[in-house]
Amino acid sequence: MIHRPRRNRASAAIRSLVQETSLHPSHLVQPLFLVDGKNKKNIIKSLPGIFQVSIDHALKEIEVCVNNGVNSFILFPAVEDALKDTKASYSYAAKNFYLKAIKEFKKKFPEICLISDVAMDPYSSDGHDGFVENGKILNDKTLPILAKMAIAQADAGIDIVGPSDMMDGRIGYLRNTLDEKGFTDTSIMSYTAKYASAFYGPFRDALESAPKSGDKKTYQMDPANKREALLEAELDYAEGADFLMVKPATIYLDIIQQLKQNFPIPIAAYHVSGEYAMLQAAAKNGWLDYHKCLEETLLSIRRAGADVIISYGARDYAIYCKK
Ligand code: PBG
Repeated sequence: MIHRPRRNRASAAIRSLVQETSLHPSHLVQPLFLVDGKNKKNIIKSLPGIFQVSIDHALKEIEVCVNNGVNSFILFPAVEDALKDTKASYSYAAKNFYLKAIKEFKKKFPEICLISDVAMDPYSSDGHDGFVENGKILNDKTLPILAKMAIAQADAGIDIVGPSDMMDGRIGYLRNTLDEKGFTDTSIMSYTAKYASAFYGPFRDALESAPKSGDKKTYQMDPANKREALLEAELDYAEGADFLMVKPATIYLDIIQQLKQNFPIPIAAYHVSGEYAMLQAAAKNGWLDYHKCLEETLLSIRRAGADVIISYGARDYAIYCKK
């Protein structure tokens, strides 16, 4: 035998020397679900280990993450029903607790990176990401609403806005509006290839944001499609996106690889609520080792080509790998 691949696996030292893919807490983004009020830490049944937190608890959570090397956070608001309307007007209201949270997080931790969510669903009485009229999601009437939301977030000090709505043309629309208002340094992480996935279930439980009628298939992508992700990516890139995101992650590794090979900007992958919940559920039953499976999962997403991974397990992984 001339080639014996096992020689390169003989010791931990050799294995670490030839390791092709790296995974570091600095690649990870921790999602936070925010609620209004004080001293709140509400359980989310379908997302063990993740809570709806008020600003005070969120600050503690951020501190734990930062101490373990996770410096980026993506923020989602759990809004009470009474504040929801058809135009998502609370999303840019001056007294919105989400905007207040952005300011407080930045004040206490100026060095962290904050990513927002730009979509109507957490604020919409229809539970859709876009504006609904006569049962239809209207693309062009949604864009100005998204822009108002993004401007309010930029004004509060967000580093990166994250449009997760999948409306056509929104990256260009947001870039233009942000630039016009002087927010030329605010980045855009586009949910480029966001699939109409059943794996978002626990997230919708967390925000009580499921659509009141119909589904999201007229704007989110068909899980059967791969070339269409290239079209979405070309448009987002041309319209000025700073990051392209694929979502979900582990069941769309081929899409991550495809975007990585074809575009010169960072690729993000969202390891979504359902993907995380599956690991937790199996671990709870004693069927899988949570930390080892989490590590292997995150590594596979990196190996496929993701520069950035958003995962509910970000903090857990960071603490685990420090040990
Ligand atoms: C909504 C949004 C969703 C997620 C992020 N932003 C859910 C949806 O599209 O219904 C899902 C994230 C997750 O499942 O972890 N704009």
